[in-house]
Amino acid sequence: MTGQLLLQQEDIKKAEAIAASIGIPVQPQIVLDIQNEAQRENPDFGRIADLVAKDVSMSARILKVANSPFFSRGKVDSIMHAINLLGMRAFYAAVLSSALSEAFLTDNPALNRFWKHSMVTATAAGIVARKLRVAPDDQAYTAGLFHDCGVVLMMKKFPDYMHIIDHVLYITILRPISEKFDLIIGYENDRYNTNHCVMGYVMSKSWRLSEAVNNAIMYHHHPNIDMHKDILTRKLSAVLHLAEFISLSFDFEHQEFAYLSSQWMNIYKPSIKELGITSDDIDIFAEELSEIVNG
Ligand SMILES: [Fe+2]
Ligand SMILES: [Fe+2]
Repeated sequence: MTGQLLLQQEDIKKAEAIAASIGIPVQPQIVLDIQNEAQRENPDFGRIADLVAKDVSMSARILKVANSPFFSRGKVDSIMHAINLLGMRAFYAAVLSSALSEAFLTDNPALNRFWKHSMVTATAAGIVARKLRVAPDDQAYTAGLFHDCGVVLMMKKFPDYMHIIDHVLYITILRPISEKFDLIIGYENDRYNTNHCVMGYVMSKSWRLSEAVNNAIMYHHHPNIDMHKDILTRKLSAVLHLAEFISLSFDFEHQEFAYLSSQWMNIYKPSIKELGITSDDIDIFAEELSEIVNG
């Protein structure tokens, strides 16, 4: 085992200890039951619909998610309809989405900002994966949804966390996005002895997401995807990198976008190569997704 990997194991142990001290949101039993049923060779759709029906607020949230831009394949008005229309895998991604929104439900504006970023990144990741046919779109959506959940855990544990992050964003206002990310992770490590990527990994693992999704979350600010031996991890990481950039780009002015996009492409070359895309493709994705997300 290399020194780098050994260090990662230590990082994970540290993050697990911090996560245990915060009490990370546990995967609800109903989600676990649905997952178990969904993974059977012939899932019983009726049983899954019955399970969901027991939780009225979850049913409502799932229907809302099932009618959102990534999932929507026509108006869905019942859980059974959602399962039949979306298929089991996409339906389970919708269940995870509704459970995560419940777990992080709050009136804290900073958390709402985070949640919006997660939803937009999830939608972008799912649509990019579907269009490029590089990875299962439900897994890409889930990776986008959970990629920054470590931020919420950090906010819960460390009262000054958002203040510090806002400060880093302020002092790096003119610096490229990737530099901001590096600085944020550096600040997190120095000040809190962990970072939101590894905390997110701990949570996604405890929610029994796939190994490839867990790893994509752990390395979502890491441009060197060639280090992943597993193809799915590499593809999901590349999709997530692009989705995050597109999601952030909605706040850019037109000229700023061209400049930041070329900077981003330079740093995330391995992801560009993995996805087989050009700068024109990025422009098109950004435009299409902006229309989908912003209506
Ligand atoms: Fe993010
Ligand atoms: Fe992040």
